[in-house]
Amino acid sequence: MNTYPKGHFICIDGIDGTGKSTQIATLASLLSELQCPSVTTQDPGSTDVGRQIRALLLDSDLAIHRRTEALLFMASRCEMVESVIRRHLDEGVSIISDRFLLSTVVYQSIEDETVDCGVPTDLLWQLGNLANGGVQPDLTILLDMPAARALERLQDREQDRLESRGEAYLERVRQTYLSELPRSSKHTLVVDATQSIESVSAEIRAYVTHWIAAE
Ligand code: TMP
Repeated sequence: MNTYPKGHFICIDGIDGTGKSTQIATLASLLSELQCPSVTTQDPGSTDVGRQIRALLLDSDLAIHRRTEALLFMASRCEMVESVIRRHLDEGVSIISDRFLLSTVVYQSIEDETVDCGVPTDLLWQLGNLANGGVQPDLTILLDMPAARALERLQDREQDRLESRGEAYLERVRQTYLSELPRSSKHTLVVDATQSIESVSAEIRAYVTHWIAAE
């Protein structure tokens, strides 16, 4: 019998350049202050299989069909759920995941002149729930920022295969995040990531502290 309370599963998501890594570190410190043990996962990644799939997906020299892309993200996530996330949650350890299924629903559904054959969002949610064996975040925090602003922040960084799709694609990604977010978890929070890092952290801290106390 499991005598531990289940851990909390929190996902932080948003387009690249919105400051996810910084906010994940802040959130990990907060959970530690609140006496909630936690581990951080990176999607895709966090397992040996996941890291190899991640390298394939981000390789700018590879042409990958959108459905292949979607299925590879799902396969990596399935490994992460079954060998890391489920076990920790059952032992009362909380998870902070850098992206989760919402990312696939958003990035792999969009069609524009740079990428065709977007996969319908309904299908991606269904396939994703199958791949994740029903595990989904309790809370999704979306860091929201116009694509143009996020790209400015990333200017000096080398872009991977998926980041190089341009501003119009990323702005559609941003809008789709906002419309699909309610389907990603029971609790959701949108934070304006154009604010200072401190203000974004303060907003997340206030929400999560209240949310954990109420859970
Ligand atoms: P990361 O740099 O935030 O780890 O994400 C790697 C890239 O992969 C990023 O450009 C977003 C993209 N991505 C998808 O296209 N679909 C997905 O399901 C995930 C998790 C990421």
